[in-house]
Amino acid sequence: MSTINIAGVSGSLRRGSYNTALLRAAQAVLPDDTKLEIVEYADVPLFNHDVEEAVGFPEPVEAMRAHLRQADAILFATPEYNWSVPGVLKNAIDWASRGPESPLDAKPAAIMGAGGRLGTAYAQQHLRQILMHNDMRVVTRPNVLISHASKHFDEDLTFTDERYRTQIQRLLDSLVAEARAAG
Ligand SMILES: Cc1cc2nc3c(=O)[nH]c(=O)nc-3n(C[C@H](O)[C@H](O)[C@H](O)COP(=O)(O)O)c2cc1C
Repeated sequence: MSTINIAGVSGSLRRGSYNTALLRAAQAVLPDDTKLEIVEYADVPLFNHDVEEAVGFPEPVEAMRAHLRQADAILFATPEYNWSVPGVLKNAIDWASRGPESPLDAKPAAIMGAGGRLGTAYAQQHLRQILMHNDMRVVTRPNVLISHASKHFDEDLTFTDERYRTQIQRLLDSLVAEARAAG
């Protein structure tokens, strides 16, 4: 069986981010023959159409797009900001979505999130809609909505909740099945 490469995209650039920690928790429960690497995109500039027209993709954008391109699937872990996705994540997706050969096009994707009381429900709904623009194949089950994020991590940001860990495993199973089906 060939290895499935998953690119993990966190919606938070914060050093102590629960969502980045959630991607690390996913790395610990991967299905067989699967790898997950977290995408670095902190240096991606704000999207500006003038820049794109004048110089194309700036170097940090090229690097992010190359990482996404080599992936068979993308796993997003997003916080909720003002009932939606953080601007940094939307900005990264805007850059990634560009061109006739976007690295997002028709790629399998899954969404999870750690946040406040609603566990990022609004943000995940918005993100799913955004990803439809590039025809991404977003798996819909199970919903991994982690409310009151701080309660589920210890002080080293190690994930401590077995119930949610099982949900993450099932989400990864769905994502990998979708990626294998896409061939
Ligand atoms: C600008 C801003 C807006 C926020 N809006 C929401 C919100 O609408 N709903 C919510 O549940 N939490 C909201 N939060 C709380 C974040 O979801 C919470 O801080 C989360 O832990 C951030 O994710 P991270 O730990 O991965 O950085 C907001 C936080 C910030 C900074």
